[in-house]
Amino acid sequence: MDFIKAQEKLKAFGQEHVLKYYDELSDAEKEALLTQIEETDFTILENCKNLGKGQARGKFEPLAALQVSEIEKRKDEFTKIGVETIKAGKVAAVLLAGGMGTRLGSDDPKGMYNIGLTKPVYIFQRLIENLMDTVNQAEGSYIHLFIMTSEKNNDATVAFLKEHKFFGYPEDKVTFFKQDMAPASDYDGKVYMEGKGRISTSPNGNAGWYSSMLKAGLRDTLLKEGIEWIDIFAVDNVLQRIADPCFVGATVEAGVSCGAKVVRKNAPDEKVGVMCLEDGRPSIVEYYELSQEMMDAKDANGDPAYNYGVILNYMFNEKALYEIAKKTLPLHVVEKKIPYIDENANLVKPESPNGCKFEQLVLDMIHELDTCLPYEVVREHEFAPIKNKEGVDSVESARELCKKNGIEL
Ligand code: UTP
Repeated sequence: MDFIKAQEKLKAFGQEHVLKYYDELSDAEKEALLTQIEETDFTILENCKNLGKGQARGKFEPLAALQVSEIEKRKDEFTKIGVETIKAGKVAAVLLAGGMGTRLGSDDPKGMYNIGLTKPVYIFQRLIENLMDTVNQAEGSYIHLFIMTSEKNNDATVAFLKEHKFFGYPEDKVTFFKQDMAPASDYDGKVYMEGKGRISTSPNGNAGWYSSMLKAGLRDTLLKEGIEWIDIFAVDNVLQRIADPCFVGATVEAGVSCGAKVVRKNAPDEKVGVMCLEDGRPSIVEYYELSQEMMDAKDANGDPAYNYGVILNYMFNEKALYEIAKKTLPLHVVEKKIPYIDENANLVKPESPNGCKFEQLVLDMIHELDTCLPYEVVREHEFAPIKNKEGVDSVESARELCKKNGIEL
């Protein structure tokens, strides 16, 4: 794109400030900025006005979960199916590591965070150790691990894992791919600049994983290897089981498009998204969308009917995903801390949220599918998320939970 066209495009979206320092840039920087302007979808910035406003939702109904008691009873049956499926090479895993982890406040990718106390124990290391449990249960069948990064953290992630020899995982069983980016703006929808020649961008949300895999040409790999099921999981839950045979088996046996790990809520108003049906399709209702009536509703056993929170660990049927791949998912506006250059071109790293990022979320993918099996896991054994430095869902709380599970830190 040439300068004049870039100027026109920016004018159409009220973003002329992007070229403020153009004359000071080197030729290479000028070209990079013009390319970024060409590639940026400024139409999404309109969504700023939706910040804090919920989206129109359909009719909610409860969706029964496969509970721990039932899973225990059928554990051998599920595990056998799961082990067979893994040994047949039909299962892959995708680590969602494209996020910025702004709440944790480290400049490195979240997976590089060391949660060890007496020795280094990195988050990535914990996840690989958990994945190795599955490999061992499946008699040494390695699962292809795809790692989603973003352009912001890819190089650091790859270098770190290489330096640590993938914590023992075979390198030829690991494939990286980068997710797409979206511009980040102030509350009025004016994009921030992260440098004189660069618009601020952030990863486009955790639902970007499948379309980014397709873009990277990785469907060929999935088909060539005969992969039918993909377990996606967040980088920050250091206790999660990954593609564990029992979960794989239960999902395959149920014949659903997707299995979702869920935990029983601590309290009816706990701040977690709850698995349910929305207009007859699987969906997730946010805690603030639960009416009193829904919180009071009971299932056939007299238990709360909206009782199972999602933990960002899903087993997707690949074919089912491919069928919905062309659908456009809704865009969520989230308030975040966005680094930017001020009027004197000094880089500012804000202490509190200062604008909007735009994300597509996995929960909207689930809603496009026909069926989903909520699969209950024991929170204390499988859910230790690290979102914050201290307090709830923090390094401290995760360490505590690791200790309770006999993991040496
Ligand atoms: P979070 O929603 O906790 O976001 O991500 P985050 O970016 O890691 O952290 P904060 O909100 O800035 O503090 C949940 C999971 O989804 C991944 C994250 O890496 C994490 O595993 N994710 C999130 C992506 O892979 N891409 C994204 O664009 C966003």
